[in-house]
Amino acid sequence: MQRLKQKIENEGVVVSESVLKVDGFLNHQIDPIMMQEIGEEFTSRFANEGVTKIVTLESSGIAPAVMAGLSLGVPVVFARKSKSLTLTDHLYSADVYSFTKQESNQISVSTDYLSKDDIVLLIDDFLANGQAVLGMVSMLEQAGSALAGIGIVIEKGFQDGGAILRSRGIQVESLAIVDSLANGEVTFRDEKAS
Ligand code: G4P
Ligand code: NA
Ligand code: NA
Repeated sequence: MQRLKQKIENEGVVVSESVLKVDGFLNHQIDPIMMQEIGEEFTSRFANEGVTKIVTLESSGIAPAVMAGLSLGVPVVFARKSKSLTLTDHLYSADVYSFTKQESNQISVSTDYLSKDDIVLLIDDFLANGQAVLGMVSMLEQAGSALAGIGIVIEKGFQDGGAILRSRGIQVESLAIVDSLANGEVTFRDEKAS
């Protein structure tokens, strides 16, 4: 998605060889016009999958997920994060390990909002090692929901998540794939889609 790549080039900050800061339009301040285009792009890439619901993870996944939900005309569920959930009744849940933070967090969704009748599009802002998305996939399995595919705003192509998910045969559509952050520069993968 050209406009997104331009935005990353103009406003993204390369924090290190592995971290790209995009607080100006995705992770702190949100650009609603671009987010609407992102939602429409996800819709066009998953238009024929019979999606009934979008699932994302709080907090930064919510904006692109809501825009995709608006465009597809389906509800959006965000998984909640919590460190110590004692009550797991009426919840689908999964442990998600963060390599960056070196800690595990439990994520959960109420059993009220996912069922075996759902065909789910998973959306997230970043794809790095894929642990958050794999946690969401596990919750869909618990619910018996079908997975239509995964929509990612920015994939870090030099980390493992994309390969892990695609090797499972999952359709992963990333709107920008960053292949390198070396020398303070963002290098995108050439192809226009996944
Ligand atoms: P990691 O262990 O492979 O680094 O990834 P993890 O999935 O644990 O990511 C931790 C948080 O950092 C996630 O947000 C994820 O979206 C975000 N993230 C990972 N890599 C980058 C990056 O290069 N740039 C930016 N801006 N974010 C990155 P989170 O903690 O769930 O926060 P939230 O923003 O969704 O609230
Ligand atoms: Na984040
Ligand atoms: Na995220």
